Amino acid sequence: MTVLTNRTARTGTAPATWPPRTAVVTGASSGIGREAALLLAAGGCRSLLVGRNGAALDEVAAATEGHRISVDLSAAGSEVAVASRASELLGDVDLLVCSAGLGAAGPFDVMSPEAIAELVAVNVLSPMALVRAMLPAMLDRGQGRILIVGSIAGALGVRGEVAYSATKAAMVGFADALRAEVAGRGITVTLCLPGVVDTPFFHRRGAPYVRRWPRPIPAALVAERMLAAAGRGSAEVWVPGWLLGAVRIHGAVPSLYRRLAGVFG
Ligand SMILES: NC(=O)c1ccc[n+]([C@@H]2O[C@H](COP(=O)([O-])OP(=O)(O)OC[C@H]3O[C@@H](n4cnc5c(N)ncnc54)[C@H](OP(=O)(O)O)[C@@H]3O)[C@@H](O)[C@H]2O)c1
Repeated sequence: MTVLTNRTARTGTAPATWPPRTAVVTGASSGIGREAALLLAAGGCRSLLVGRNGAALDEVAAATEGHRISVDLSAAGSEVAVASRASELLGDVDLLVCSAGLGAAGPFDVMSPEAIAELVAVNVLSPMALVRAMLPAMLDRGQGRILIVGSIAGALGVRGEVAYSATKAAMVGFADALRAEVAGRGITVTLCLPGVVDTPFFHRRGAPYVRRWPRPIPAALVAERMLAAAGRGSAEVWVPGWLLGAVRIHGAVPSLYRRLAGVFG
């Protein structure tokens, strides 16, 4: 298992050890979160798996010998239920993986306010609330790793995914500010920015992925890269890595980026 080899974080006064012994993984019932839970278990980590789909969670829990909690993260107070169950079952939590999320596609001018509110609740408020609930114990220990799954759409806004892009952009600011705030206190904050990943995400949002390029990448690859990045204490990881090139063009020559995006979509 190359992903979960022993390393110490680059930041923090009391770097957390790696691999983690305990983890909370949201979105563990499907896609990227599921693959992360499997990899963590293969490295000997005990996890609390978080999702809504009880049958899917049972299957991952059986494969990982993990615990599970079925909860709607958009519900107020759900983060308290997750944090207290984690403390009860796992004790100290070494790693928090926030992968739960949902997409939405279609023109923004006809998107319902309810759909916008749900996206914000799941993609923005829920990871913030869960980090808020679990951070004090990590700070008390002077140890902990936080891994947030954002999206390339949060760095390069995608047409037809206006609200989704905005929620993922919020995670860029959240992770940056949080990292700065906890710097030197033993906590690392890693943001993963995947491109197109082969998961049920597109089916669930009701709009299949139809472009011929870029090709969807396997969820297991994203899970592997993001856990390795969390293990290094890296601030960010782009999967696939070439996405960073597009982001650099966007930052350095925005007019060129907009022209290219207009041509290639
Ligand atoms: N797939 C992509 O192309 C792609 C690209 C960039 C970023 N991402 C991000 O990657 C993350 C994982 O997505 P994925 O591709 O793995 O999609 P996925 O297979 O659809 O998994 C989404 C996960 O989020 C959970 N979830 C959604 N709403 C929830 C709620 N209200 N309460 C609790 N759990 C909830 C789902 O749990 P249940 O099924 O149990 O409800 C599921 O485990 C998301 O944050 C997504 O935005 C995905």
